[in-house]
Amino acid sequence: MSVQLPLTEQPKASVLSAQAYQKIDRELAKYPADQRQSAVMSALAIAQAEVGWISPEVEAEVARYLGMPAIAVHEVATFYTMYNTRPTGRFKITVCTNLPCALRSGNHAAAYLKSKLGVGFNETTPDGLFTLKEGECMGACGDAPVLLVNNHRMCSWMSNDQIDALINELTAQAGGSKGA
Ligand code: FES
Repeated sequence: MSVQLPLTEQPKASVLSAQAYQKIDRELAKYPADQRQSAVMSALAIAQAEVGWISPEVEAEVARYLGMPAIAVHEVATFYTMYNTRPTGRFKITVCTNLPCALRSGNHAAAYLKSKLGVGFNETTPDGLFTLKEGECMGACGDAPVLLVNNHRMCSWMSNDQIDALINELTAQAGGSKGA
């Protein structure tokens, strides 16, 4: 059950859509009414799906809506690599370089992607298609090298050939050409 906020605390339409607040309310319904902060991760994910990244305004709005300090929202948003604290390209590729993956070519996959895309970690290709990120363990260490596309699509055993195929596929999806 969602909590009805006073009119002065009603959401600002310019930050998130009514649909986004409805989704957040559904998450809030999973927790006791006095534990609204428990929905912070879901709220951030919903906001990011709509806005594309967690801007300072989004952080402030999530904090206001959940009734928690903005710094606490900021701490969550900056701790987990799935949250974009800056605008990203159309495809965010997050490569796991934690130790188990590093021992099984994770760093090689990261280096190959940097070379292929011509960007470093936390950078976006000039055409705005790809942002490269370094990620923490994704729970698929046995499939190394692994990477995530836009937080949802897990790609396993990413050899150079597999990376080439992925980049070609995503580029084609976007209607462009990146070469092999
Ligand atoms: S260390 Fe990379 S998935 Fe676990």
